[in-house]
Amino acid sequence: MLRKILQKLIPDSAPVQPESLQAVLQEVETKILPGITHWQSPNYFAYFPINASIAGFLGEMLSAGINTLGFSWITSPAATELEMIVLDWLANLLKLPNDFHSKGPSGGVIQGTASEAVLVVLLAARDRILREIGKDALGKLVVYGSDQTHSCFEKACQLAGIHPENLRLLKTENYNEYALSPDSLDDAISQDIAAGLIPFFLCATVGTTSSTAVDPLHELGKIIKRYGIWFHVDAAYAGSACICPEYRHHLNGIEEADSFNMNCHKWFLTNFDCSALWIKDRNVLIQSLSTNPEYLKNKASQGTTVIDYKDWEIPLGRRFRSLKLWMVLRLYGVENLQSYIRNHIKLAQQFEDLVAQDTRF
Ligand SMILES: Cc1ncc(COP(=O)(O)O)c(C=O)c1O
Repeated sequence: MLRKILQKLIPDSAPVQPESLQAVLQEVETKILPGITHWQSPNYFAYFPINASIAGFLGEMLSAGINTLGFSWITSPAATELEMIVLDWLANLLKLPNDFHSKGPSGGVIQGTASEAVLVVLLAARDRILREIGKDALGKLVVYGSDQTHSCFEKACQLAGIHPENLRLLKTENYNEYALSPDSLDDAISQDIAAGLIPFFLCATVGTTSSTAVDPLHELGKIIKRYGIWFHVDAAYAGSACICPEYRHHLNGIEEADSFNMNCHKWFLTNFDCSALWIKDRNVLIQSLSTNPEYLKNKASQGTTVIDYKDWEIPLGRRFRSLKLWMVLRLYGVENLQSYIRNHIKLAQQFEDLVAQDTRF
């Protein structure tokens, strides 16, 4: 049975006449807040705690006040351009190869969540292969990840119409600390090809959710290249650490990838929601997600002179999310952000030591 606590406290329908702000805020305090799990409390240790900051909060407030829906460049040029700039900044911090920057045929876009990021690149990859081999081959397409890959990949496959039997979540138990073994990937691909199936997508992870495994990007990338498969890297939470030079090696091999995502709303002090996605060939994404009805046509979008982010994502309307990320980067500065990451890692190491010393574990 569904647990409905709030329903007992709040009327069944909206008030006909306006109520006072004071009355509403009082109910927030007495009825809503007791039912909230306080993710921003220092005592909260589940999932990813205290992921917000005052900088992010101020950016979020500004964005709420401006409330622009910059889906095309023309609908708010600065919203689109700030997003391009700030994702280039972040790409530089992560030392992503130049072919992820907005200057070439590549570029970054802010999605709401990693789940959306993975879905849109999967759709782009699916449509790219289906354009080559024909739409009827959908049932033969095969995708790969590991048994540690986040469930958002499985969901993306459901949404993209990938046959459930063609989702290969390869076992990691016999390889290095739950990472995806290049040999098992190679074997699985060879077997699928021999069975007449069509491998087309790999989702590797840097920092898996339950085991913090880092898949060996370089080795996986070499295999992927041989077969012409789309290579996506999901670094939803751990990617933030790679702004520190001493952790950047976890992204070695990223140059082999076609796309990469990292959640700024996890470990980068940016209030939810803000998931950064970079893609080497943005035209593949645009070909998959673009529509061009009469009411959205405009002169700026003709030709390839501007970016219309509506063609890089599922929704049309979009929030001005880059503002909060820009404010986080500016109000902290790179050195402070690096110290923040280092301090968390130091605390985690201290915690590990305490657990190791405690015989109850
Ligand atoms: C590695 C990884 N990928 C994807 C996700 C899904 O993130 P989102 O909630 O932004 O879709 C998570 C969330 O914990 C994650 O850790």
